[in-house]
Amino acid sequence: MKITIKDIAKKANVSPSAVSLVLNNRPCRISNEKRKKIKEIAEEYNYSANQIARSLVTKKTQTLGLIIPDIENIFFSSLAKNIEAYCREKGYMLMIVNSNNEYDNDLELINLLASRSVEGMFIIPSDSSYSDNTEIINRLEKLSKASIPYVLIDRIYPELSCDKITYDNELGAYLAVRHLLENGHRKIACIASSEMSYNGNLRLRGYYKAMKEFNSTIKPGYVLQGDYRIDSGYEAGNQILDKDITAVFITNDMMTLGFLKSVYENGKRVPDDFSVVGYDNSIYPYVFGVELTSIEQDVEQLGKHAVQLLFSKLQDPNKSYESLCLSPRLVVKNSVKEI
Ligand code: RIB
Repeated sequence: MKITIKDIAKKANVSPSAVSLVLNNRPCRISNEKRKKIKEIAEEYNYSANQIARSLVTKKTQTLGLIIPDIENIFFSSLAKNIEAYCREKGYMLMIVNSNNEYDNDLELINLLASRSVEGMFIIPSDSSYSDNTEIINRLEKLSKASIPYVLIDRIYPELSCDKITYDNELGAYLAVRHLLENGHRKIACIASSEMSYNGNLRLRGYYKAMKEFNSTIKPGYVLQGDYRIDSGYEAGNQILDKDITAVFITNDMMTLGFLKSVYENGKRVPDDFSVVGYDNSIYPYVFGVELTSIEQDVEQLGKHAVQLLFSKLQDPNKSYESLCLSPRLVVKNSVKEI
């Protein structure tokens, strides 16, 4: 027979809510003798809490939500893997949902997770949300009013007061392009992300800053627009091939994969024909023939800090917001040739 909370309460001569609180190690005004009795009965009958039933009594689902823009992008899937592991260590399940980098899906998924009674959310907004983020900010403020804490990760809204954590995108791009310049390159292209991307625009700013510092001219056609996906890197590569460019800074490594495909399909090689620095340091286990120099945004650190921020808020709802900006790292390998 599967014993229930009510059965245990009857055997221990206490209320069902007292049983639930004791078995959830929550504060409860009950004698130690009764507390011990409850635990002995639960153990004797091998009681396993029904998570849904438990949430009805404690109003706690021990479930969190994570919205990522592109589950096929190694940066996001690795980040999700880290966040899920940290949440599970704390006894929480993580619902991971994918917005496909579409603003409408951001809005729908925030509502969907809230309707599943998640206790908190980690949110990486879509690039397109930056076109007009009024509605998503309204939804996020409603989450706060409903005592559902959230953390913006990686892609933040600077104007919104909330818990947030990102890497310094302008610094990352500056380090990447300065590395190319220090190796003698001056004809350097940049495969940027969509114009709506907040991170992408900061990376473009880092490119401009480094090029200006070395008095390097940015000719027409040197900056190409991608969308963080492989195909856009491939298309940009085909446009770059016939230009007098010796080096390319690519603002994420999914586009770097696409760029490498276009280069190799045209019989060219990295770094012999093009020196390349990517961003995310996420594809090195999958690329052969060249070891890619890239900007690392450590997803383990990003996930760990994001989880710490959210759990601090769960434990103390009155805790003040924190805005963290981590420093990315240039990982030098052999995709840049000195000229
Ligand atoms: O690869 C996807 C990019 O978008 C990453 O660099 C990350 O910063 C995200 O914003």
